[in-house]
Amino acid sequence: MSLAIITGSTGLVGSEAVNFLHDKGFEIIGIDNNLRKLFFGKNGSTSWVKSKLLKRNKKFKNYNVDIRNLNSLHNIFKKYQKKISIIVHCAAQPSHDYGKNFPFLDFNVNATGTLNLLELTKKYCPEAPFIFMSTNKVYGDNPNKLKIFEKKTRWELKKKDKHYKGIKENFSIDNATHSFFGVSKTYADLMVQEYGKNIGLKTVCFRAGCITGPNHSGATLHGFLSYLVKASLKMKKYNLIGYKGKQVRDNLHSHDLVNCFWEFYKKPRYGEIYNIGGGRYSNCSIIEALNYVEEIAKINVKKKILKTPRVGDHIWYISDTSKFKKHYPRWKQRYNTKKIIEELIEHQK
Ligand SMILES: NC(=O)c1ccc[n+]([C@@H]2O[C@H](COP(=O)([O-])OP(=O)(O)OC[C@H]3O[C@@H](n4cnc5c(N)ncnc54)[C@H](O)[C@@H]3O)[C@@H](O)[C@H]2O)c1
Repeated sequence: MSLAIITGSTGLVGSEAVNFLHDKGFEIIGIDNNLRKLFFGKNGSTSWVKSKLLKRNKKFKNYNVDIRNLNSLHNIFKKYQKKISIIVHCAAQPSHDYGKNFPFLDFNVNATGTLNLLELTKKYCPEAPFIFMSTNKVYGDNPNKLKIFEKKTRWELKKKDKHYKGIKENFSIDNATHSFFGVSKTYADLMVQEYGKNIGLKTVCFRAGCITGPNHSGATLHGFLSYLVKASLKMKKYNLIGYKGKQVRDNLHSHDLVNCFWEFYKKPRYGEIYNIGGGRYSNCSIIEALNYVEEIAKINVKKKILKTPRVGDHIWYISDTSKFKKHYPRWKQRYNTKKIIEELIEHQK
């Protein structure tokens, strides 16, 4: 039987991957110690997701192990060895703000944790595709240097701008402010490429925009749309941080994302990178997201605009996903931003 190792298994992306691969017949070994609760408090706790996963999936087992702990990881890899046919690595410290305050923890989880997993993959299951969740923050704030102009509800690029369709993988990662989180993830991203190009593992980095879905334990510091919907419905108020709330993000549903993993698993490559996100098909500014929520849920949300932006925040970011679509033409995106928000609202009821 095929076995999948999924780190961050009770987080948004990991849990979607657990359900998806379980439905495909895989035995699933999850690795998640709910560190998200330490990062973001009780709003961030993923224990409710773990309960749901254990109930739904008979062949799912979760190890309460920290990816910083090489010895514990070693025992898991040694136990399952050649049975392991895919590794999906989603465990991370995912927030800019948290990373700045706790740089050692941030680096140890995002960078060292990834290195631990790569080494064990090399040793015990070198044939297994290794899927890594990277981030668009590897480009730092370079996208903020584009010729962005202000519209009524969003920042935008001119249609004739060469980046209008989105940021491609050859965009520079240099000479930018990345945030501490962006730097630790960039180390991991480069290492994942190195184990592909240099060592010959079937690795891929998905440099994601905003990923979202009902399994997100949205908190102020992470899980933008999930938290926005939760705060709007429960407290009827929301703080827009910097850039007049007009900053643009592209939103991809976690289900659409794990379908990318599946396409890669069926036809893996070595040390590959893809920008992945909602693209032009699914994006919004924060104000536009709030407008959708007000319209769909028929509520008024009190908006407070805070002047100082978060370090490393993008004013405008849309992923150009054409490279992935070219390599994997069967991949189809099912959710746009409105559909994602409708589902998030339904989930909160
Ligand atoms: N959600 C997004 O918008 C987004 C965007 C770009 C990239 N990403 C990346 O995708 C990946 C998954 O994101 P997500 O939104 O599912 O995050 P998440 O916080 O919902 O899930 C991550 C999970 O990893 C676990 N974890 C953290 N540190 C751990 C450790 N040391 N050992 C074991 N488990 C640990 C957490 O408890 C959590 O359940 C992350 O690498 C993140 O950087 C996410």
